[in-house]
Amino acid sequence: MLTKLYASVSLNGQLLVQEKRLTSPPAALMMDFMQHVHRAGNMIMGRKTALSLIGNAQVLESFSGVHIVVLSNQLPGDHFCAVVRTPEAALRHLKARGFKTAFIAGGADTYNSFLTHDLVDELIVNISPEITTNGIPWVSRPDFSLQFGLEEMKMINASISQLRFRKQRVFIL
Ligand SMILES: NC(=O)c1ccc[n+]([C@@H]2O[C@H](COP(=O)([O-])OP(=O)(O)OC[C@H]3O[C@@H](n4cnc5c(N)ncnc54)[C@H](OP(=O)(O)O)[C@@H]3O)[C@@H](O)[C@H]2O)c1
Repeated sequence: MLTKLYASVSLNGQLLVQEKRLTSPPAALMMDFMQHVHRAGNMIMGRKTALSLIGNAQVLESFSGVHIVVLSNQLPGDHFCAVVRTPEAALRHLKARGFKTAFIAGGADTYNSFLTHDLVDELIVNISPEITTNGIPWVSRPDFSLQFGLEEMKMINASISQLRFRKQRVFIL
């Protein structure tokens, strides 16, 4: 199964967050995100992102048909979404249901967990041309370094670029 991590960051390397943000996130970002989610048919999120995103009934409705998996050690078992305790369990859960792609939607703790366990094949990073004061580092310090190779660059509107990277295997002779 291919694992894709999708993140939107500022020029100063911060994950874009809605809290204390002065403007709405660009609509093009949300549209692109929704297209990726619906194409994968699933979405893995940490508890904090899940509660902010799907706590809203209207937003939840827009994910109709999407299999949602939430990483949490606190939430009780499955309700409207599956709850798992580890990144590996999230991937096993999706694989058992026949998904070919697992879509990792954030936030930062969740990205770090998957990267630290070397469970990411593809990175899709949107770069928004803003210097933010309210973001959070989108990846902190993982336990080991990983190399990615650029596969594609495109604009998703007049100002936001999207970079797609594939993990590069490092062979030590
Ligand atoms: N710009 C973007 O692309 C983007 C994308 C997504 C989210 N965001 C933003 O990111 C922020 C949230 O990010 P965050 O880093 O604070 O939180 P998060 O990753 O959304 O959620 C963190 C929670 O997920 C659970 N979790 C994560 N890794 C786990 C693991 N290995 N095992 C078990 N549970 C695990 C834990 O919940 P328990 O405490 O329940 O165990 C943890 O407290 C929000 O502001 C959101 O808007 C931005």
